[in-house]
Formats: sequence, structure tokens, C-alpha cells
Amino acid sequence: MNVHRHDFPGVGAWHYLDTGATAQKPQVVIDAVARAMGADYATVHRGVYQRSADMTLAFERARERVAGFIGAASANEIVFTKGATEAINLVAASWGQSLKAGDRIMLSQLEHHSNIVPWQLLRDRTGIEIDVCPLTPDGPIDLDALEALLTPAHKLVALAHVSNVLGSILGVKRAAKAAHAVGAKLLLDGCQSAPHMRLNMAELGCDFFVFSGHKLYGPTGVGVLWARGEILEAMPPYQGGGAMIDRVSFERTTYAPAPQRFEAGTPMIAEVIGLHAAIDYVEAIGMETIFAHEAALVAQTREALRSMNSITLYGPEKSAGIVSFSMQGVHPHDIGTILDEEGVAVRAGHHCCQPLMAHLGVDATARASFGLYNDVDDVAALVQGLARVKKVFG
Ligand SMILES: Cc1ncc(COP(=O)(O)O)c(C=O)c1O
Repeated sequence: MNVHRHDFPGVGAWHYLDTGATAQKPQVVIDAVARAMGADYATVHRGVYQRSADMTLAFERARERVAGFIGAASANEIVFTKGATEAINLVAASWGQSLKAGDRIMLSQLEHHSNIVPWQLLRDRTGIEIDVCPLTPDGPIDLDALEALLTPAHKLVALAHVSNVLGSILGVKRAAKAAHAVGAKLLLDGCQSAPHMRLNMAELGCDFFVFSGHKLYGPTGVGVLWARGEILEAMPPYQGGGAMIDRVSFERTTYAPAPQRFEAGTPMIAEVIGLHAAIDYVEAIGMETIFAHEAALVAQTREALRSMNSITLYGPEKSAGIVSFSMQGVHPHDIGTILDEEGVAVRAGHHCCQPLMAHLGVDATARASFGLYNDVDDVAALVQGLARVKKVFG
């Protein structure tokens, strides 16, 4: 039995294999949120009373903790958002104002809808063009194609660090070099990398990085946009309101520096405190340890599923915690329903990646995604459940 499993009251004897959608929460995160909502609760950045000053300090300590976790140069490069989706929309709405008709953005075939639709909305407003980088036959984004397709008209390359369907890991350094060679910025969607891998913004060489707290064992309702300091500082505000201003009059308003300029309104206080606790928790285990543990579970799962001859596996062997598959003659929803009867939770559907489904020639897949609490018993339960699916469908 995995030693960390007991830390998660939501897991118990359940074979939870849907961490890619959202991770279960360790008790330390639940306790931190309860304290922040209870005995410690007060607003931030406003109150003159001690409790509010303490909460403001805790809130800003969390920003520093996030900066340390991803190897950012400064806490001022960390903007708290509602999640990764909001962070990408923020970049599109704010930084995107610098783009004009004729400029181009490069995405890839495997992007999540949240890294496609905000750019389409920007395209509709500005007349920019969107290009799509193809994948190599086993799944990862094709970097030879990326290098060949990029032109000086490209201002942004926005790619998933890890695919939420295939688990494939982007060769970030090469992607960054290719983007920068034509003068484009690189945005990484880190939703599926932040929970599994050690991160360092300087080493990766990207310009924007986004992730969601709830996939990293933290609360929902909090996410992060990291942007290189000088880029963030030059970005215009995208939402107006309290907390993001310097001075307001009816004639003219001036704005606070980054990151406050991008955090209009009362922020998600308890959620930010919970994210801090989640980062403390995963770092105490160690991101390298988590990656190795999940890689071993992925390898065992792929090997077991390969031996069931009616199963098609998607994605490369080396995957960050994700195994997508289908079974001949059985809809993924039926796989998910029967597995649920066996106490195994997987995701079945298009995973918010309809263009990738079209590329794979399917309308859905089943997906097992692993977290630090999973173990070989979960893999065994999945395999046993799939044997029953096979039996039911003949
Ligand atoms: C790769 C990827 N990008 C973006 C998102 C969107 O994250 P959120 O819904 O937390 O904003 C997800 C969530 O499934 C994802 O897996």
C-alpha cells in the first residue's frame, strides 16, 4: 500500500485514476483551507487590523512559495488567477493587445480547448492567424515540423508542456529556441506538468507558464500565471476594479505594478493558502520521487494493457502519469461505467481535446491518470475491471 494514500481522505479504498482531471486533496490542504476560512479568516491588502495584516503576509508568502516551486526569478512574476484557463485568457486579453492583423500564433494538434479557444477569440478581434503544429506518429509535438513552420510573423508559440490525453512531454528547450529564433514568445500550458515534474522557469526558457492548483493537490478556484518580469510589467490590465489601481479619478486612473495590476477585486484568499500547503506537501515528498513513482505505474499499466489484445494504447511509452486507451467494439463511456462498478474511476470522453480526437480518428478515449497516492493495487483493479468489460461485451 502506498504510504501517502492515508493522507487523502477522499481516496480510501477507491481506485481513483482521474488525477489528470483533478487531484484528491491531502488532509494538510483541507486543514489549511479550513483554518484560512475559519480562525485566520480576514481580507488581504486592505485591513488595518492585525488579522488582516497577518492574512496579507500569509497570502504574499504563498506567492513567494509558488515562485520558489517553479523557479521564478521573483514573486512579482506570479499572478494568481482562477485557474489555467483564466491565466491563458489573461495573456490573450492583455498581452494579445500587442498583436495585429497578419501576426501569427502557433498551437499544436494536441492542445486542450483552453489553449485553443482564447486564441480564436483573439483572432476574431484582431485578424491574427492561427497555425497548428503536427505531432510525431507516437504522439509528441513534432519539433522538426515546428522549426520548419515558424516564421518571423509568429509572435507566440503556445503549447502543452504535457498532453492531458497522451501524457507526452514537450521538448521545451528546443521549442523555446525555435520560438525565440523567429522572435516569438513561448507559452507553456503546465496543467499536466506541474503535478508531476520539477519545474524551473530559467532552465525551461519559456516566457509564460500557466497551471491550475486543483490538479496539484490544492483547491479549485486558484491557478497561476507566470510571465517573465519584463513581459508582465509591459502588459496592460485586462480587468478593472479594486486592488489593481494606483489612483482613481473620473478623469484618469493609474494602475498598480504587476502582479497586482492583474488581480482586480478581492482575491481567492483561502484557496491561495491551500495552494501553499499543497506545494509544501508535494515538495516534502519530492517532485523527482513523484515522477519516478508515476512513471513506474504508467509502465506497468501499458504493459498489462498491451497484453489484452483488444486494447489500443495512445501516446508514447514515456508519459507523465497518463495512459489513454480504447477497447475494440466498446465505447469509452461503457468502459468508464463498468469500471466504476468495480470501484475504478477513469475519465472517458474527448478530454477537452476534440482536434486531437479528430487526429486520432476517434470521438473519445478512456484515460487512466495517476497521482502520487496510486499504487500497483490500482493498476491491478484497472486490469481486472477491463477484463470484465471485455467479458460483458463479448
Ligand atoms: C492540459 C490542460 N490544459 C488546461 C486545462 C484547463 O485547466 P482548468 O480547467 O483547471 O482551468 C486542463 C484541465 O483539464 C488541462 O489538462
